[in-house]
Amino acid sequence: MKKLAIIGASGRMGAELLTLAAENQFAVATGVGRKQVDGITMVDDVSKLNASDVDVVIDFSLPELTDDVIAWCVANKKPLVSGVTGISLEQKKRFSDAGQTIAALWAPNMSLGIAVLARMLNELRNLKGFEFQIEELHHKRKKDKPSGTALFLQEKLEAAIGEEAPEPLAIRGGGIFGIHRVWAMGEEETITLEHNAINRRVFARGALKAARWLMSQKPGLYTLNDTLTA
Ligand SMILES: NC(=O)c1ccc[n+]([C@@H]2O[C@H](COP(=O)([O-])OP(=O)(O)OC[C@H]3O[C@@H](n4cnc5c(N)ncnc54)[C@H](OP(=O)(O)O)[C@@H]3O)[C@@H](O)[C@H]2O)c1
Repeated sequence: MKKLAIIGASGRMGAELLTLAAENQFAVATGVGRKQVDGITMVDDVSKLNASDVDVVIDFSLPELTDDVIAWCVANKKPLVSGVTGISLEQKKRFSDAGQTIAALWAPNMSLGIAVLARMLNELRNLKGFEFQIEELHHKRKKDKPSGTALFLQEKLEAAIGEEAPEPLAIRGGGIFGIHRVWAMGEEETITLEHNAINRRVFARGALKAARWLMSQKPGLYTLNDTLTA
């Protein structure tokens, strides 16, 4: 069993990771968060993690912790999978810098479906004279807006169509885990590409699969797309 440390173990995503860890051959010795979690040792700060208890780190906490998490993984040479959204451009750059020393993977959406949808967007380049817009819906507790996934899809969309698209439309309500739609609107026809996360577990499953893959990679900054072609 490989040893996994979960940053944000006491959160919603942390709970899903803990449920799936064993069936993915991971033992979770330590988690980071301020609340206690049954069955694991919790520490309230990344600096209190014991390197000998960790083979790989998965972070589903908040951007406030991202700098410390990256610094700890680099100092202790541990691979890092981060699903934290709402990170700044400087923090994205820190992930690239970390890739000089460790294998790191950051993805604002860990589902296989979004990784494939992002690839499909390239086909939209053939739609001349169309307008495009992304729409996203999430539960009312989600902090960042538009979602990290919508911004990621926007980047792929704009690269495909060769022009800027309007800012994604963000809707918050209820318990929605994440719906993303890409609209392509012509005068006589429309195309809608939609991804719907039916539960939160799909993201945890993707992160655990990415962590398993990342442990055998050389230092570098990877994307979920890299794991698809592996
Ligand atoms: N990439 C993806 O596929 C994906 C999917 C879903 C969510 N996300 C992202 O993952 C992140 C977590 O989402 P979530 O819904 O699980 O959030 P959440 O339930 O609010 O969990 C946040 C976690 O971070 C911990 N935390 C926050 N501030 C802390 C601090 N100062 N010190 C120590 N621990 C701290 C919390 O611990 P305490 O509560 O114990 O303080 C908790 O364990 C968000 O950025 C979200 O957007 C990404």
